[in-house]
Amino acid sequence: MLKASRPNQERWSTEIIVLHWLTAVCVIVLVVVGWELGAHAAHIGQRTMLLQWHASLGVALLAVLLVRILVRLVSKRPLSFGESQLRHRSALAVQVALYLAMIALVFTGVVAAAPRPFGPAVHLFGIWPLPRISGLPLIVMQNIRSIHAALVWFMIGLVGMHVMAAVYGTFVRGDWTLLRMVPWGRRPRKKSLEIEGDG
Ligand code: HEM
Repeated sequence: MLKASRPNQERWSTEIIVLHWLTAVCVIVLVVVGWELGAHAAHIGQRTMLLQWHASLGVALLAVLLVRILVRLVSKRPLSFGESQLRHRSALAVQVALYLAMIALVFTGVVAAAPRPFGPAVHLFGIWPLPRISGLPLIVMQNIRSIHAALVWFMIGLVGMHVMAAVYGTFVRGDWTLLRMVPWGRRPRKKSLEIEGDG
């Protein structure tokens, strides 16, 4: 049975913290490599190599996300720092949208990278060839790269909101939200903010 550690009620469990920052690193690398792909469009060899890295990391990210969702389901939230219901609910909505956007990015990516009749096959981790995709509406197949690129911007917008909320909570409201997601996070003792449990 999966059980997350709970060393300190003021921050997320170590597993959640590790998975959170691992997700962030994977996403940053994926976006950089994705944009590099566009810059190397004319060089087939480099493009295929970059696409192989991009696709492999993207599929690895899906595994990280699935583990993260499982761990999140068995983890307890840290104690609330007294945020309003509105802020709590909007933060949750952005987080759920982020998960959905990342999952949608992986699936649209797999379709976009699927072998074309005369194109080179992409092998995940240099071993497993991506399957040929059929049965999707032609309009989706024709626009899949644009859908993937649009999802990237949607995700970047969500990440912006997610980061701004953490920065606002920490530095404007002084509730140290950000510290809940770092391994050494601990509110400064001098702050006398009210702590309430929220489940
Ligand atoms: C969260 C996961 C992912 C992110 C953040 C991401 C990000 C990106 C970005 C930024 C681009 C460039 C878009 C543009 O043209 O402006 C791109 C392109 C692309 N990605 Fe992804 N990607 C992800 C997952 C995947 C996966 C899993 C695959 C394949 C299995 C994939 C396949 C592709 C393909 C085929 C392109 C188009 C390359 C081209 O024709 O230039 N992506 N991706």
